Amino acid sequence: MNFQGKNILVVGGSSGIGLSLVKMLHQQDANIYVASRSASEDWPADIQYLQCDVTGNLDRIVDFLPTELHGLVYSVGSINLKPFNRLTEDDFLNDYRINVLGAARIIQQAVKQLRNAGVASIVLISSVAAKTGMPYHASIAAAKAAVEGLAVSLAAEFAALQIRVNVVAPSLTDTPLAHNLLSSAEKREASAKRHPLGKVGQPEDISKLIAFLLSEESSWMTGQVIGIDGGLGKLKTN
Ligand SMILES: NC(=O)c1ccc[n+]([C@@H]2O[C@H](COP(=O)([O-])OP(=O)(O)OC[C@H]3O[C@@H](n4cnc5c(N)ncnc54)[C@H](OP(=O)(O)O)[C@@H]3O)[C@@H](O)[C@H]2O)c1
Repeated sequence: MNFQGKNILVVGGSSGIGLSLVKMLHQQDANIYVASRSASEDWPADIQYLQCDVTGNLDRIVDFLPTELHGLVYSVGSINLKPFNRLTEDDFLNDYRINVLGAARIIQQAVKQLRNAGVASIVLISSVAAKTGMPYHASIAAAKAAVEGLAVSLAAEFAALQIRVNVVAPSLTDTPLAHNLLSSAEKREASAKRHPLGKVGQPEDISKLIAFLLSEESSWMTGQVIGIDGGLGKLKTN
């Protein structure tokens, strides 16, 4: 894959999957634009950065973006796991705001630039929990199912504009967001065992798929939700 001359916006590119993607795209010569609340010391020097909270005012995104935008990745999310009877209205609204509204509002700001590119690709991130029932996931699963609904709807609406929209749906991946779930050797082992392939995901597992979906290699794919979950979402092995 070669991203030379391609302008890619990674929202949430300061950590975890987004950071891994930024490094990968940089090696493939992309021009990278990152929006997040904080900067990362791990970025290559020539990253364009906008400090931005996706739950706040997004007006500055338009001026930040180049005239032509070839790719947009929304790698912002939450893991808010609680028994159903402890979930508050604010929990549901917060997960929806971060995962769904944030993505929708960013895309609204960037549609013109995506159109200007002639051919463009958007990648959103769901979760294995959107389609595989798991205890304590009611709020995040509802929000991620909405991300998938948003994506297929936009894929249809944008197809004639040559803007593709696809989703990756990871299971537990070793990032700062998942820190509490992987904070001891016992937790890591139990989490690994729940996956048919016997391990949790690494950020690079997910960012490689995202890079493929951004690239021309996937130019006939749109409206897809692709599980990347060590088999957890589809297989029953014990
Ligand atoms: N890790 C997993 O196990 C897992 C599993 C399934 C799905 N996912 C999904 O994968 C995506 C990436 O997650 P990750 O694990 O890579 O998480 P992460 O390491 O916490 O990274 C999240 C990124 O989003 C940014 N961000 C968070 N809140 C923001 C806000 N309000 N405004 C702007 N930027 C914000 C963070 O940067 P700042 O803090 O600097 O703002 C960071 O760059 C998310 O959609 C998540 O739901 C992750």
